[in-house]
Amino acid sequence: MLTEGDVLNALRSVRDPELGMDIVSMGMIKDLVVKDGEVAFTLELTTPACPFNSQIEQMARSVVEDLPGVRSVSMKVTARVRQGWVGQRMPMEIPGIKNVVAVGSGKGGVGKTTVATNLAIALSETGASVGILDADIYGSSLTRFIRSFRFEVQGKDKILPAEGPLGLKMMSMGLLVPDDTPVIWRGPLVGGAVRQMLTDVEWGELDYLVVDLPPGTGDAPLSLAQTIPITGAIIVTTPQQASLDIAIKALRMFQKLGVEILGIVENMSYYVCPGCGRKEYIFGQGGGARSAEKLDVPLLAEIPLLPQLRENSDNGTPIITTDPTSEAAESFRGLARRVAAALSVVAVRRGAK
Ligand SMILES: Nc1ncnc2c1ncn2[C@@H]1O[C@H](COP(=O)(O)OP(=O)(O)OP(=O)(O)O)[C@@H](O)[C@H]1O
Ligand SMILES: [Mg+2]
Repeated sequence: MLTEGDVLNALRSVRDPELGMDIVSMGMIKDLVVKDGEVAFTLELTTPACPFNSQIEQMARSVVEDLPGVRSVSMKVTARVRQGWVGQRMPMEIPGIKNVVAVGSGKGGVGKTTVATNLAIALSETGASVGILDADIYGSSLTRFIRSFRFEVQGKDKILPAEGPLGLKMMSMGLLVPDDTPVIWRGPLVGGAVRQMLTDVEWGELDYLVVDLPPGTGDAPLSLAQTIPITGAIIVTTPQQASLDIAIKALRMFQKLGVEILGIVENMSYYVCPGCGRKEYIFGQGGGARSAEKLDVPLLAEIPLLPQLRENSDNGTPIITTDPTSEAAESFRGLARRVAAALSVVAVRRGAK
C-alpha cells in the first residue's frame, strides 16, 4: 500500500537546482495526504520569482505520478518567501520585513537608483510584496519619483509609506528634507535616520525591501551596512576600469562587514544601435563578468545603455512600467529572478523554516 513515506521518499529525489537541496529537506512539501492511491500535497516554493519554479513543479509531479500504486496526484503550488536573517546577530529587528536587499556602488552616478527602482518593480510583478527605501539622502532621483505619490504621517510617530505601481511601498529620506537644501549629514546620523525609517514607517508585511544606498565607501554607506539588517547586497558598476576598481573596493568593504554579496550588476553595458540593432560595447566588453569571476560572485545582469532609460529615470518613470517589453525591462526581470533566488539560497543556508 502506498504511504506518505513512499511519496516523501520519491520527492526527495527532486532538488532545487539553485539551492542544491532536496525539496523535502527544505520543507517545501506541506499538507501531504495519501489515501487509496490518491495523493494530495502543497508544494511551497521559496519565492514566486524563482527561475526554476516550473521545472521544480514538473519534476515533483512526475516523480509522484511514476510511483507504483498512484492513481491521482493533486498538487497545489504556493510560494512563501523565507525570512533572510535567521540565526544572525542583528543590530535591530524589523518586524514584518523578511529580506533587505541593499543596492550599493563604489562610484556615484553608475545607475544605482535606476537599478533599485526597476528591481523593486520587477519583484512586485511576480506577486511578492515589496518596498523600496531611498537611503541616499544626498539627493536622489528616486525622491522625485516617490514624491509623486502620497505618503502620510499618522499621529506623532508613525509614517505610512507612499504606494506606487503594483502596491510597491516607497519611502525616501529625501522626503524629510526640502528639495533645495543641501544635506550634509555625518555617517552615524545617516545610520540613525535610516534606522528610524525602518522602525517608524508602517511597512506592513514585506517579502523584500530594496534599499538604495548612498554611493561609495565613505562613512554613510558604512554606517548603514552596520546598522540595518541586510540580507544581501548588490553592487552596481559600469564597465569602465575605474568604475570596476572602486566597485571591487565597495564589495570588499561590505564583505568585511559581514554583508552577504548577492552579485554584481553591470549597468550601461552596451548600446544597441537603433538603426541596425547591433550591440556596441562603448565602454569595453566583459569587464563586469571578469570582475565577478575574480571576486567569485555572480554577475546578476548586464543592463543596456539607453537614452530612454535616462529620460525615464530623470522623469521618475521607471522603464519597466513605461516600456515593459523592452530589452532593458527584460534584463531587470532577469535580475529580479536571480536576486530572489540568491536570497532564497541565503535564507535556506541560514536555516530559515
Ligand atoms: N542604462 C542606462 N542607460 C542610460 N542612462 C542611464 C542608465 N542607467 C542610469 N542612467 C542615467 O544615469 C544617471 C545616473 O543614474 P542613477 O541616478 O540611477 O545613478 P546613481 O548611481 O543612483 O547615482 P547617484 O550616485 O547620484 O545616486 C541618471 O541620469 C540616469 O537616468
Ligand atoms: Mg542614486
